[in-house]
Amino acid sequence: LLLVGCATCLLLAIAAVAVATGAAMAPADRVELKLGHSLDQNHPVHLAMEFMKERLAEKSSGTMILEIRPNGQLGAETECLSLVQRGVLAMTKTSAAPLENFVPEMAVFGIPFLFEDEAHFWRVLHSDLGNDLLEAGADSGLRGLSYYDAGARSFYTISRPIMTPEDLKGLLIRVQESPTSIAMIESLGGSPTPVDFGDLYTALQQGVVDGAENNPPSFYTNRHYEVCKHLSLDQHTRTPDVLIISQRWWQRLTPQQQQWLAEAAQESAEYERKLWQEKTQEALAGAEERGVTIHHPDLEPFRQSVSSMVESYAGTPTGDLIEKIQAMGGEQ
Ligand code: GCU
Repeated sequence: LLLVGCATCLLLAIAAVAVATGAAMAPADRVELKLGHSLDQNHPVHLAMEFMKERLAEKSSGTMILEIRPNGQLGAETECLSLVQRGVLAMTKTSAAPLENFVPEMAVFGIPFLFEDEAHFWRVLHSDLGNDLLEAGADSGLRGLSYYDAGARSFYTISRPIMTPEDLKGLLIRVQESPTSIAMIESLGGSPTPVDFGDLYTALQQGVVDGAENNPPSFYTNRHYEVCKHLSLDQHTRTPDVLIISQRWWQRLTPQQQQWLAEAAQESAEYERKLWQEKTQEALAGAEERGVTIHHPDLEPFRQSVSSMVESYAGTPTGDLIEKIQAMGGEQ
């Protein structure tokens, strides 16, 4: 009897340990998500992703861990997108520009002077159309979670300022890996040269390109101002950044985990939007202090130069999106 009793105790004890360890090791319980992106650690979008990491850990009581790898450590944006699509990497944050190679609808964010102002831009992003665009990549493996403000992109150059489209003639201008960005520079008269963001500082320094275009925080945090002393605020495009999770990883999460992540992504986007204005002002002031001249060109000649490019999309899916977005302008 004594022997039987002991054996039962032992079995119960083993069962208890098995349940405890089994629960702790169940695959759905603890999730580590690796996120690769190309920006610097001082960039507002990176800071917002750090905030997301904290919020996710809090919501999940430390069971969902985000490991953020900045500065293109895991590859340039197109490479990260391809890794995420295949499920090799869980998450990434890229500009909508290279995303158009995977999700063709994203090309619309590369159309110059599409948005009347910031209010128009956010009205579109927060509409059904904006949500549909975010989810448009899910079938091809790339599920958008949220948009980050990436302001407006403007030209910066090494030797002479861009005041009119004529000033771009003969200049090699770095572009993102995006057909629409290439078409835009061509329509303005420059020579587009795709270079990965992580290689751009060296390309500018070595004179491989004569200039580039980006938003002020990216120009500043990657120290492109050390080489380019002219920033011309023509604000040709408002191309958002997009936070993406691999559809394969998303499907492996429980509904509860999906909810925590979606909420943390949302809070991170709101946090970033507040930070953006302040960091943009800081970047402009910081660049000026370091010898950059900020120019305010007349935008009309730029608009006119790209008008035939914009018209060339008529009747295409991008053309339809352009029309829908234009129809949302001028509203309150
Ligand atoms: C923006 C964007 C980056 C992108 C960069 C670029 O800064 O936030 O994600 O890499 O543009 O021009 O490549």
